[in-house]
Amino acid sequence: MNPLRLIARAADELLDKTIVLSFTNVGYALRRSFWKKVEEAMQGKVCVVTGANSGLGKAITHRLAALGATVFMFCRNPERGEAARAEIVEATGSDRVFLEIVDMSSQASIRDGVGRLMAQTDRLDVLINNAGVLLSERQVSVDGIEMTFATNTLGYFLLTELLLPRLKASAPSRVLNVSSGGMYLAKLDVDDLQFEHRPYDGVKAYAESKRAEVLMARRWAERLDGTGVMIHALHPGWADTPSVENSLPGFYKAVRPFFRTPAQGADTIVWLATHPHLAGEENGQFWFDRKTRPFHKWGSPRNTPEEIERFFETCYALTGIPQESDGA
Ligand SMILES: NC(=O)c1ccc[n+]([C@@H]2O[C@H](COP(=O)([O-])OP(=O)(O)OC[C@H]3O[C@@H](n4cnc5c(N)ncnc54)[C@H](OP(=O)(O)O)[C@@H]3O)[C@@H](O)[C@H]2O)c1
Repeated sequence: MNPLRLIARAADELLDKTIVLSFTNVGYALRRSFWKKVEEAMQGKVCVVTGANSGLGKAITHRLAALGATVFMFCRNPERGEAARAEIVEATGSDRVFLEIVDMSSQASIRDGVGRLMAQTDRLDVLINNAGVLLSERQVSVDGIEMTFATNTLGYFLLTELLLPRLKASAPSRVLNVSSGGMYLAKLDVDDLQFEHRPYDGVKAYAESKRAEVLMARRWAERLDGTGVMIHALHPGWADTPSVENSLPGFYKAVRPFFRTPAQGADTIVWLATHPHLAGEENGQFWFDRKTRPFHKWGSPRNTPEEIERFFETCYALTGIPQESDGA
């Protein structure tokens, strides 16, 4: 291995051990100095980004549009969605950025959004599951499902399941689940995924949903082996976005000078979406700062294979998707 790569690896491993430095703009700045510039071309590629009007989703959409991609922004609020779309169009000069009003906590809304998408494009190259919530109190969706589970878990699950046939038909294509380093702290409580039998804890619900997103990426990767659909989960580090400020005000104040910008938080997501040479990577990995990372660390709790099976059975049952429906 050449000396520069050895230094980069040692610096990365050292940073990783500090956690705090690793997740902040310090980690980003240090690692970035070792990254090679890759020319991505996204003309003719069609992408879907959920939660695209704010924070990371907006930064991802901006970058993909600037690279020439057609981007469908899946947003729940028409005014916020259109304001973000107009800003991105103005900044990039792209006329290929479209808004679809989709509430990712509502299964009917997701199904309608997929129907409208299919009517507008016959291909899909990149799906970025990004919309997410961290709530302080238990809420339920229009489908009567606990809101964090409905949005962060079933939202990712249903949208991806519905789009898998189109992704396979468009292969090589990519699916990215925007998870969180918080997933290291959690294992799924498969007997109480919706916090019906334990006191509600928004941070725990969030961490479990983020663990679920990693499990989903791994499961789809197994199923999609050989189809040309690349699928990964990743975490963005700590980025200065409205959800962090509103959901975790104490944490936000403490870390404020060290947050990554939304564009920096979006870096690995955009890199995974666009990098031309990732096809040989093992599928279903967990990424951070352009490198695969372990699924468990710091002695984090693990689900048994039987629990993971039951989790997927619940996802299929609650969304009405027949198991392995796309024939993968
Ligand atoms: N920022 C970080 O440090 C960090 C760290 C780890 C992981 N993440 C993950 O990054 C992703 C993006 O979060 P962010 O930090 O960029 O926060 P953000 O700026 O608040 O963005 C969240 C986006 O999700 C959308 N959203 C929420 N519920 C939705 C629903 N039911 N339907 C459609 N869209 C919905 C929001 O729409 P509205 O504007 O309408 O609310 C917003 O566009 C999340 O999955 C989060 O878990 C972020």
